[in-house]
Amino acid sequence: MQMRALVTGASAGLGAEFARQLAADGFALVLVARSADRLRELAAELPALGAADVEVLPADLTDEAGLERVAARLQDAARPVDVLVNNAGHAVAEPFHASAIADERAMHELLTWVPLRLAHAALPGMRERGRGGILNVASLAGRLPSGSYAAAKAQVIALSHALDARYRRDGVTVTALLPGFVATEFHERMGVAADTVPRAGWADAPTVVREGLAALRRRRGVVVSDWRYRLAAPLLPLVPSRLIAGFGLGARIERGSGR
Ligand SMILES: NC(=O)c1ccc[n+]([C@@H]2O[C@H](COP(=O)([O-])OP(=O)(O)OC[C@H]3O[C@@H](n4cnc5c(N)ncnc54)[C@H](OP(=O)(O)O)[C@@H]3O)[C@@H](O)[C@H]2O)c1
Repeated sequence: MQMRALVTGASAGLGAEFARQLAADGFALVLVARSADRLRELAAELPALGAADVEVLPADLTDEAGLERVAARLQDAARPVDVLVNNAGHAVAEPFHASAIADERAMHELLTWVPLRLAHAALPGMRERGRGGILNVASLAGRLPSGSYAAAKAQVIALSHALDARYRRDGVTVTALLPGFVATEFHERMGVAADTVPRAGWADAPTVVREGLAALRRRRGVVVSDWRYRLAAPLLPLVPSRLIAGFGLGARIERGSGR
């Protein structure tokens, strides 16, 4: 049976890697991001990897009309989507006291409202078919008291838990993927130099994506990726919040700048 996945933020970083690995698994794909040209380039690459069919769906997910176009695609029963990867994301570079509120709102919407809206669109069909998976790309930062990005990621972890607990019995798995630092365009887009984080701290996108997809297949509710962050994760609750905030440790987890 032909399986289909929709990946948001597929034009770069983790999203492009999700598309490649899902293509290699034989999935048909729907690629979503703002950069139509980059999506088309990726789409041209995917059939050779194994994708049966590739749709390009350019959309700004922080724009109501763009988001609703993607929601409508997820609700199209004639071309069902079996796996939704809620991956698109960015972070506000400035600390909370100095950021523009419009930037905070755009980030908050992209990281929390968009995954909720798209899960809401995808779930009824998955439930009806008795199978489906939603992979929400959160962050290990969501377990730290480190700014509004971390708070938004905490929210998507909570949403994943809540939906997984409720819909698992209907055959739908909702998995939260919690990476630490990953080498993508994420930090560059924020204007943060890669060398702010020691080389040994960077996970690579193929590993993080492989572990995320394996967790979804095994119907796990949450996965921390990669191994170095799995080792660190149990220690995080032992670090006092003041220390994390005061020394910019939490901020470094995503911003790599310690500002
Ligand atoms: N890299 C890390 O260290 C790290 C760590 C933990 C979690 N994460 C999370 O991983 C996810 C993927 O990030 P990444 O590291 O792969 O970053 P990336 O390389 O910067 O890719 C971000 C993707 O999101 C898309 N995007 C951004 N704003 C969008 C919008 N308004 N509408 C639609 N698409 C949008 C971008 O495409 P366009 O610009 O073409 O729209 C791009 O495809 C994010 O949720 C991020 O928070 C990253």
